[in-house]
Amino acid sequence: MKIAFYGTKPYDRIWFEPLAADYGFELRFIELPCKEETIALAEGYDAICIFVNDYVDKKLIDKLYEMGVKAILLRSAGFNHVDVRAAQGKVAVLRVPSYSPEAVAEFAVTLLLAVNRHIHKAYNRTRDFNMSLNGLMGSDLNHKVAGVVGTGKIGQAMIRILKGFGMQVLAYDPYPAEEVQAEYVPLEELISRADVISLHCPLTADTKNLICRESIARMKEGVYLINTSRGGLIDTEALIEGLLQKKFAGVGLDVYDEEEGIFYEDCSEDIIEDENLARLMTFPNVIITSHMGFFTMEAMQAIAIETLENAYALENGLPLVNSVQLSGQT
Ligand code: NAI
Repeated sequence: MKIAFYGTKPYDRIWFEPLAADYGFELRFIELPCKEETIALAEGYDAICIFVNDYVDKKLIDKLYEMGVKAILLRSAGFNHVDVRAAQGKVAVLRVPSYSPEAVAEFAVTLLLAVNRHIHKAYNRTRDFNMSLNGLMGSDLNHKVAGVVGTGKIGQAMIRILKGFGMQVLAYDPYPAEEVQAEYVPLEELISRADVISLHCPLTADTKNLICRESIARMKEGVYLINTSRGGLIDTEALIEGLLQKKFAGVGLDVYDEEEGIFYEDCSEDIIEDENLARLMTFPNVIITSHMGFFTMEAMQAIAIETLENAYALENGLPLVNSVQLSGQT
């Protein structure tokens, strides 16, 4: 099987390259993102492999179909960047539903702790031998109320960690899971009762702008908001308004609505045209990271194995257990 890998970085290659020989696959690593201008590079390949900021719309899917590409292999759990409806009956869309939920949950907690205890500011200060504590006071998490939106694999891992801090955990999910150590409540109640809100649901038509002006208005003063799921879950302009109104004690964002072309790239020499992103960067109580919740050795290895297993299943006519269906679930 020949697979064209789009948007690849050195840290992708080190996991995929050694495995490819075991499967007998020929891999081509392309640094460019998958888009109209680069899709022709997939000519002659059986599958393409993409990451979260490669958007594959109907036009690209039709092109892939014409070229005889049989599958889009996602190196991710999320699949909001592929037009799954357009792909039906033309190109298989195979994802990695679970590689290390703990990696993302641990990162969400990292953001929460960092922004709460001002680690980003303390680090810079002490490097300059500014040992003052002014402005660095945080708050205990113990006995506080956490609200976890989405109790799938990552949400459940998050709940386990937050319980370890002695937090009371509320949860919202339209499909509640059994044996979750949290109290399921309606979303509105979670939003208004939680001291910490952490988002762990997929981006769908239903969850787009889940955090909006109305939900921010319902939140407690001094709430912490953590988003490691997808940027589109938050209305960024409403978030900026809320920050200006001093609603939030801290905000941790690993994802952003307009990541394409910026996240995963070194833009340090560029003029950033995205005014919302630039504005968010100016708030001292906001930490933004570059969609890296998944980025652990364990997760990268699991992503590489599962992606190639998906390709192997396709090549050998085995059941495609990780096929993305229109319902949004596998
Ligand atoms: P999952 O599929 O195991 O769980 C998602 C949960 O969200 C399910 O229980 C589902 O019922 C629930 N849900 C669906 N609609 C909802 C709604 N309207 N409100 C509340 N909950 C809703 O997915 P998993 O593995 O836990 O991943 C969650 C999300 O995390 C992914 O969709 C992806 O966007 C994001 N993610 C981010 C990564 C990062 O590096 N920052 C890495 C991996 C995933």
